Amino acid sequence: MSVYRQVYATWKADPVAFWEEAAKGIDWIKKADRVFNPDSGIYGRWFDGATCNTCWNCVDRHVKAGDGNRVAIVHDSPVTGQVNSLTYAELLEHVNALAYVLRGMGVKRGDRVIIYMPMVTEALVAMLATARLGAIHSVVFGGFAAAELATRIVDAEPKVIVSASCGIEPTHLVDYKKLLDEAIEIAGGETPKCLILQRERQRCSLIPLRDFDYLDEVGAALDVKAYVACVPVAATDPLYILYTSGTTGQPKGVVRDNGGHMVALKWSMENHYGVAPGDVFWAASDVGWVVGHSYICYGPLLHGCTTVLYEGKPVGTPDAGAFWRVIDDHRVNALFTAPTAFRAIRKQDPDGKLIGRYDLSTFRTLFLAGERSDASTIRWAEEKLGCPVIDHWWQTETGWAMSGNPVGLGALPVKYGSPGLPMPGYDIQVLDDDGRTVPPGDLGNIVVKLPLPPSGTPTLWNAEARFRKAYLEDFPGYYATSDAGFMDEDGYIFIMARTDDVINVAGHRLSTGQMEEIITAHPDIAEAAVVGRTDETKGQLPLGFYVMNDNATSDPEEIERELVKSVRETIGAVASFRTVVPVSRLPKTRSGKILRATMQKIAEDADYKLPAAIEDPAVLDEIKTALKARGLL
Ligand code: COA
Ligand code: AMP
Repeated sequence: MSVYRQVYATWKADPVAFWEEAAKGIDWIKKADRVFNPDSGIYGRWFDGATCNTCWNCVDRHVKAGDGNRVAIVHDSPVTGQVNSLTYAELLEHVNALAYVLRGMGVKRGDRVIIYMPMVTEALVAMLATARLGAIHSVVFGGFAAAELATRIVDAEPKVIVSASCGIEPTHLVDYKKLLDEAIEIAGGETPKCLILQRERQRCSLIPLRDFDYLDEVGAALDVKAYVACVPVAATDPLYILYTSGTTGQPKGVVRDNGGHMVALKWSMENHYGVAPGDVFWAASDVGWVVGHSYICYGPLLHGCTTVLYEGKPVGTPDAGAFWRVIDDHRVNALFTAPTAFRAIRKQDPDGKLIGRYDLSTFRTLFLAGERSDASTIRWAEEKLGCPVIDHWWQTETGWAMSGNPVGLGALPVKYGSPGLPMPGYDIQVLDDDGRTVPPGDLGNIVVKLPLPPSGTPTLWNAEARFRKAYLEDFPGYYATSDAGFMDEDGYIFIMARTDDVINVAGHRLSTGQMEEIITAHPDIAEAAVVGRTDETKGQLPLGFYVMNDNATSDPEEIERELVKSVRETIGAVASFRTVVPVSRLPKTRSGKILRATMQKIAEDADYKLPAAIEDPAVLDEIKTALKARGLL
């Protein structure tokens, strides 16, 4: 029997009492004066007046409680053929050593540290060491290009950047150091100090006085058993900034606080994911994404679990049995990944033959999020793994699930296509464009009644006005998720689409607006539109359309090569931008708005309604013809 409905009702009846109770799972230096202060911040702040330290809660307190010998992090790296682990006691030593080095480089409470690293243990150590100092980290995903890193350097103004000589992808090396050097040059301004992890596969040269060798510096600090006391911070102080795609080339710096974040994640480990301290939790994501922040690093460590940090892919490292091998080798209890990973595995091993080679007896639950889970992928996983498969829905902005199926409270029946029911903390509603509640089953804008629960972003870094405009203005009193969908009679939520120009490629959130800006920067191009087109593995892939200037001289093939290259060089390989089609004009409304949703439908050969305000319906046939000419229809 699930107690979900009682627990949700308890929260709704008294949210303050609910989170006050949940906060007992955290060590506070000073307890909150007010669990929720509605007069603080933009829409109120959680645990106002409290002081705490996130690193203490993730590391020190487990050692203090006698669990120092428990494995904290397993780094499993098929791309290097290595597996290493750190116990909580060892993790404490490493975090202390790095905190000591960072402090020596001038990092103090409130300063920013950018972490641009591949999936190595040092990335987690860097997050925790920064938190230990009361400083603020900003992890940048390794698949981003130099220009993206530069934007973040300009906005976050880091005192130190922790990076590595290279990343190791199955087919190639990623030259992190070169990208870092380029980014620092593009960013201009004050040059941050850099701490570089030299990896054996490809070492790099260091710039005197700017760059320092991670292993030398941290090694020296380990030798002297450096100790740095955890710096007390306000619960409302930022723990990190995580940049995510918005509607323009300028990413949004989502801010996460210390106190509310710990309370919400700790609650979610037990109640949503149903894991206990000592269990092995594996989030097969990347530390550069919010899933990596919350469920590779903070959630499992706050809860005293063993977390698996996997430097590999679901397929190709070496085969579609990689996930089962990791589960078997490390006795994993719960796995959290994106549906795209399962689609990739299923494509290569449709009968799940490789599963039978491994002992999955410890494995209890598979969690999926990051993009829509199609019913057939969920059914396949259920059938082949014989365990519950739980879809849940959240965003960088929330840091944990807005909806799900809390197995810790007793799982509820799964409805295929739905990422479950609202989690305690979230009063989710579906509104029409005028802010009126729509009946169950009807499509609308999915919003959350304010305040957001603990861990919800209180603002955007350096961009309070943008925060208000992007999230709070359209539906006063609510947080707008920018997702559209519906709620059924039983309260299950169904996420159908984004209402902005964000697309989801292999679980990575990308802005089509940003791609359009890059395309239109080409001197031969007058205008452009980018839409997300369904892809059987990656969920969506970007598809570009461009209109050439009348006086353009280059030939389209050359232009297209340049466009693909410049999106790759500006955003990064992760954009998977490979297809761009010339058209003589774009379909628009009479007021000049490009009809991207209709273009997307055409590109997917789906039915569409002729938009009432369309300027010239004949353009739609031209789009179809252009796609056919490229073999895309
Ligand atoms: N550092 C540097 N480059 C990276 C990178 C990283 N951390 N991650 C991906 N890239 C590069 C890839 O090498 C690839 O480059 P290429 O175009 O030169 O080949 C490009 O970015 C696109 O990567 P991706 O979209 O991930 O495709 P893929 O073909 O490498 O792998 C999947 C496809 C489905 C296996 C992969 O996307 C995956 O494992 N997804 C899991 C989902 C996930 O982690 N989601 C995060 C949110 S939960
Ligand atoms: P990110 O901030 O990168 O985590 O991306 C958040 C967006 O991914 C959401 O706003 C949704 O559009 C999408 N998303 C995340 N989880 C799900 C899910 N379970 N089902 C459907 N869409 C999802």
